[in-house]
Amino acid sequence: MTGEFEGLEELVNVARSVIGNSYSPYSRFRVASVVRDVKGRIYHGVNVENASYGLTVCAERVAIFTAVANGARHIRELLVASETDEPVPPCGACLQVISEFGDDETIIYMVSLRSGKAVKKRLSELMPHRFTKKELEAGK
Ligand code: THU
Repeated sequence: MTGEFEGLEELVNVARSVIGNSYSPYSRFRVASVVRDVKGRIYHGVNVENASYGLTVCAERVAIFTAVANGARHIRELLVASETDEPVPPCGACLQVISEFGDDETIIYMVSLRSGKAVKKRLSELMPHRFTKKELEAGK
């Protein structure tokens, strides 16, 4: 893969290798997420559901929290990989969490592992108006 999607293949390979770990007995909707931080380190996550449905955590947040637990603080790229025909975007809650550790230029790749379709967006495109520590400070 070259050009616009350079660097994506490595993330997709990780997603392919871990999506089977998705714990999704209720929705049967498997998701994997892979993040690369500014130092080039890669972390992954899968969605983890619960019999108390609302406690489910999306793959993106599992990946980000794993990155943070390993010392990462600044995300450069995030992949969300699904098995739908069309790629799916992160949910609103996950965009807010990505926002905490990303910036306008953070790349979000959405890839279907079934069809191979890939979409690339910046965080600023998916979530142009974000509540961040800057807004928090301004209110003090
Ligand atoms: N899910 C994710 O993990 N990431 C997304 O971007 C969309 C939704 C999960 C949550 C739940 O386990 C299942 O997909 C159905 O909503």
